[in-house]
Amino acid sequence: MSGEARILVVDDDQINLRLLEKILGAQYRVESTQDSYEAIRLIKTAPPDLILLDVMMPHLNGFEVCGIIREEERLRDIPILFLTGLNEAVTHVAGMNLGVVDYLLKPYKIENLLLRVRNYIQMKQRHDQVRAQHDLLMQQKALLENEIAERLALEARSQQMARLSALGQMASGVAHEINNPVAGIINCAELLKNRLPAGDVCLEVVERIHREGIRIARIVESLLSISHPGYRKRETVSIADCLDPVLTIVRDKLVNHGIRLETSIPENLPKLTVESQQIQQLLLNLLVNACHSLNDRFPGSDPGKQLRISAALLEEKDQQRLCLEVYDTGTGIPPEIIDKIFDPFFTTKPAGTGTGLGLTLCHEIVRQHDGDLRVESVPLSYTRFTVALPLHPD
Ligand SMILES: Nc1ncnc2c1ncn2[C@@H]1O[C@H](COP(=O)(O)OP(=O)(O)OP(=O)(O)O)[C@@H](O)[C@H]1O
Ligand SMILES: [Mg+2]
Repeated sequence: MSGEARILVVDDDQINLRLLEKILGAQYRVESTQDSYEAIRLIKTAPPDLILLDVMMPHLNGFEVCGIIREEERLRDIPILFLTGLNEAVTHVAGMNLGVVDYLLKPYKIENLLLRVRNYIQMKQRHDQVRAQHDLLMQQKALLENEIAERLALEARSQQMARLSALGQMASGVAHEINNPVAGIINCAELLKNRLPAGDVCLEVVERIHREGIRIARIVESLLSISHPGYRKRETVSIADCLDPVLTIVRDKLVNHGIRLETSIPENLPKLTVESQQIQQLLLNLLVNACHSLNDRFPGSDPGKQLRISAALLEEKDQQRLCLEVYDTGTGIPPEIIDKIFDPFFTTKPAGTGTGLGLTLCHEIVRQHDGDLRVESVPLSYTRFTVALPLHPD
């Protein structure tokens, strides 16, 4: 082991230098120099395991060389042994302040020198081993931490999927149960409406029953479409083919509410194989939510009222995926409810306004296309929904 150890000897006296080279050369790889600047260069280029340093030298003395070396973190642990004819106490104090390990007063006994050299080399080699083990442990720790974070995220995701699917199944069960009685209510209300004479005081009530019955029927219909969206043919379409019809529907609404729309869809994006009507439904739900949120935050018109739709091609999960983003500068979503927004019937909208099924449907559509739907939001700043779809799902 000691044969691999490298020692740098620095002494302006050539006779001392040759002597030390001879004594140490039998057991160690020795480099030497009489010049203190050259010593610094050698140390920085290939840090040795031990430095034997004369104190009194022209240009830079031993203390100065020591000070320069200790400035560099990676060179701080190299043991330095001062060889000096100076007064012991002075050397000791000055040297220790600079992090020198030890000193030998000239003239020294050779066996004394060899003993110390051996000890410091061993100390340095153990230190290097400990440091290498520490670095390895740190690398393994970082890898483990990464793995744990990935597994936790995966687990949270699969828990959310399981919860959504359980909720979805329950909701569709309830929907089936409601379907028939509601159809009965609507039919009876229609019958009554037709039988009551015009101007009858009950007519208004019957009409209300009819209206509300239809509302329930619509909710039931969307619930059923979530659990059984119904397989339509998949087609190969461009993202513009999906987005343009949706923009036609919402554009007037955006203009009327003073919402600035920005779209960034690169022209050369590859086409997608999807159920295009479902993707249109998904985009429409996301855009309508964004509009509501923008209007909640800025009831009038405001330059900060922004909606951005963008698309990009990404390499994710070992496949090419098309990433669609709907970004708005509306109210944002508070962290305490963000985990619930995909749940069926979760809504913060006033009763009768929202059913809380929009995002549940979006989630289901994306799931059926083997994609991912993610949300990121900062209250009173922005909300970003990201839909990642494989170009050609199974
Ligand atoms: N872009 C958004 N900014 C802020 N909050 C949002 C946004 N999108 C969704 N939300 C929150 O998520 C909730 C659920 O949305 P979801 O679309 O499922 O239902 P909804 O919009 O309330 O009703 P609907 O069934 O009519 O869509 C919303 O009530 C709202 O609190
Ligand atoms: Mg909605």
